[in-house]
Amino acid sequence: MLPRVLIGDDQFDVIEALRLLLKGEGYEIEAVASPAAIIEAAEHREFDVVLMDLNYARDTTSGREGLDLLTRLKAIDATLPVVVMTAWGSVDVAVEAMRRGARDFVQKPWENERLLSILRTQVELGRALRRGQRLEAENRALGEQPRLTLIAEARSMQPVLQMIARVGPSEANILITGENGSGKGVVAQALHASSGRASRPMVTVNAGGLSEGVFESELFGHVKGAYTDAKADRVGRFELADGGTLFLDEIANVAPAQQVTLLRVLETGEFERVGSSRTRRVNVRVISATNADIAAEVEAGRFREDLLFRLNTVEIRIPPLRERREDIPALAAHFLAQHAARYRKRLGGFEPAALRTLVDHGWPGNVRELDHAVERAVLMAQGKTVAAGDLSLRPARDASARIEDMSLEDVETLLIRKAMARHDGNVSHAARALGLSRSALYRRLDRLQGQGTADRKEHQ
Ligand SMILES: Nc1ncnc2c1ncn2[C@@H]1O[C@H](COP(=O)(O)OP(=O)(O)OP(=O)(O)O)[C@@H](O)[C@H]1O
Ligand SMILES: [Mg+2]
Repeated sequence: MLPRVLIGDDQFDVIEALRLLLKGEGYEIEAVASPAAIIEAAEHREFDVVLMDLNYARDTTSGREGLDLLTRLKAIDATLPVVVMTAWGSVDVAVEAMRRGARDFVQKPWENERLLSILRTQVELGRALRRGQRLEAENRALGEQPRLTLIAEARSMQPVLQMIARVGPSEANILITGENGSGKGVVAQALHASSGRASRPMVTVNAGGLSEGVFESELFGHVKGAYTDAKADRVGRFELADGGTLFLDEIANVAPAQQVTLLRVLETGEFERVGSSRTRRVNVRVISATNADIAAEVEAGRFREDLLFRLNTVEIRIPPLRERREDIPALAAHFLAQHAARYRKRLGGFEPAALRTLVDHGWPGNVRELDHAVERAVLMAQGKTVAAGDLSLRPARDASARIEDMSLEDVETLLIRKAMARHDGNVSHAARALGLSRSALYRRLDRLQGQGTADRKEHQ
C-alpha cells in the first residue's frame, strides 16, 4: 500500500513544492491549509505520516498555534508520526515540538534528500509501531494456533482439494458450506495457508454467536468512552485481520441489522470504531462458513442476497463424513496419535473389528464426532490397541442408507444379523427368510462366530 501523507501548510507554493516532490516518490498526498483542516483530516482518515508547518496565519512567528495543534493530534492518535516544519533559525521551537511528541523536524527551506529520508523513516517506524500494537492484541485474541492437518484422500474430497489449490492463493471471498463438524474450520485454515497472506494472521469470529450489543465493537472496535465500561480503545477483528484473512464462522446466523454493517465494510473496506467518526480502511480477505442452507435463508428473506453475493464469490462444499468413508481409517489414526500423546497412553492402533465399526458408523456429527469417539476410546482402552468395545458407539440409526457403501461381505453379515434378530435366533426361520438352506446359514454363522471369537481373543 502506498504511504499516505497529510501535509499542513497555509502557503500555497510550499504545498505545491511538496506535492511535486512527494508525488514523484510514490506518496498519496492530502494537503490542507489550516489547523482545523488538519484535525478534521486526522480524525476521519488514516495517514502514515503528517508533515505540518508550525506557523499559521493568525500568529506567524511564535509557533504556538502549531504546538497546540501537535498536542491535539497526539490525543487523536498517539501512533501517528508527525514531522514539523519550522522557520529557519527557530531551533528552540523545533525542540519544544519534539518535546510534545513530534517525531522529527525540518527547517525551511528544506533539503529534499533530508526531508525524504525523514519521511521514509517515520513511515516505516509508524507502521512497525502500529503492527506491534496489533500483534499484541492479536496474541491476546488468538491464543496459540494449532498446527494444520487436512486428511482428504477420498474421491469425494478431491474437488475440495482442487478448489483450495485453485482459489486459495486468490483474493476471492470464499464461502465454505458443510454439515456440523465436517471440517469447515480446517478448510478455512488451509485456504489461508495457501494464500499470499499466510504470514499474516487468520482471525476467526463466530459471527453468528455475537449478541447485537457486542457485534459492532467486536468486529470494528471501539474508542474509549464509547460505552460506560469502555475504559480504553479496542481494536476490532477487521483491523486485527488487516493484511490477513478474516474467518466469519456461522455466517447464516447473523441478524439482519448486522448484515447491513457487514455489507458496507465488504463493499468499501471502510468502517469506523464504535464511538468514533474516523473512517478506517482495511485490506482483508473474507472467508465465511455455514452449516445452514444459505440459499434457503435468502429465499426465506432471512439473509440478504447482496451480502451473499459478496461472500460467495467462490463456494466450497465439504461432503459429510458418511460420503467419504475411505478417509475414516486415516482420520481415526490421526486422532488416535493425538489423544494417545495427550493422555500419555501407548496405543498401537485399532483392532480390525474396531476399525470396521468406525468405518460403518453413520457419523451424524462428522469428523468432530469421530475425533470425540476416538478420544473416548483412548481413555477407555486397556490393551495395547483400541478394541471395538472401547468405542461405545451407538449403532447407526439408518443402516439401509449406507448399504451401497458397504462391502458385499459386510452387507451379507448385516442381513444375517437382522434376520436372526427378527426371528429370535431361530435358524430355520431366518434361513427361510434369507432364501438359504439351514446348513448354508449355519456355515455363515460359524464364520461370523469365528470372527467374533477372534475379536474377543484380541481384547485380552
Ligand atoms: N479433513 C480433516 N483432516 C484432519 N482433521 C480434520 C479434518 N476435518 C476436520 N478435522 C478436525 O475435526 C474437528 C472438527 O473440524 P472443524 O472444526 O473444522 O469442523 P466445522 O465444520 O468447522 O464444525 P462446526 O460446524 O461445528 O463449526 C477439528 O478438530 C478438525 O481439526
Ligand atoms: Mg467450525
